[in-house]
Amino acid sequence: YWLTPGAGPLDGLRITVSAGGTREPIDAVRYIGNRSSGRQGWALAQVAALAGASVRCVTTVDPPFRADLVEVLRVESAEQMLDAMRSAQEDSDVLIMSAAVADFRVAEPFAGKVKRAGKERLELSLVPNPDILVELVQHRKQPQVIVGFAAEVERLEESVANKLANKGVDLIVGNNVAEPGSEFGSVTNAVYLLDRLGRQRRIEMAPKTEIAASILAAIVALIEV
Ligand code: CTP
Ligand code: CA
Repeated sequence: YWLTPGAGPLDGLRITVSAGGTREPIDAVRYIGNRSSGRQGWALAQVAALAGASVRCVTTVDPPFRADLVEVLRVESAEQMLDAMRSAQEDSDVLIMSAAVADFRVAEPFAGKVKRAGKERLELSLVPNPDILVELVQHRKQPQVIVGFAAEVERLEESVANKLANKGVDLIVGNNVAEPGSEFGSVTNAVYLLDRLGRQRRIEMAPKTEIAASILAAIVALIEV
């Protein structure tokens, strides 16, 4: 056994990370989703657990590898993810919103399965989902480190700075999802980190587990402040 219990760099830290894209029901069998694979969230969960943290993953997707060390909480919709993250907030030192949360959901999902016959048009009315990150910040238990992501297709650094300020989080991990190698579903990523103290760092394209280690290092730097 090559891991010495109690000797990891994140030993004793309780981390909750969300992963994957939310699924917003249309009817009993259909949903509105997005292209997030959950890989970056799961990589964070895995690396943190191997480094000794107690890790929970609130996820819409199965782990892409064996993640026996991680406690798994399966959810589908943004509202379910909000509930799971809020209860995890009670006993977490670090909260990481790596999930791609749908900004809108169907106002009134249909009961049963919608049938095709007799319809010229089918309209869906969407309403805004709660901003989970903002809710977590509003209920922050000091000292709790709260980390957000920013998926952008242009002006990455500017958007990251805006989201850091607007959401009141401690760290934003920005990635350009229009860039080959860091688009939704990739096994690699390239990120730009900005923390509340103004410290910034660019991490070049690397496997998501390596990116995860760099993100966790930035989180540790915030805890040690
Ligand atoms: N997020 C959240 N709840 C939502 C939407 C987003 O918690 N309803 C979180 C994401 O998990 C991510 C961060 O907020 O950590 C930023 O998500 P992003 O989609 O980049 O930003 P938005 O604030 O949703 O703004 P927009 O999509 O318009 O850029
Ligand atoms: Ca969004």
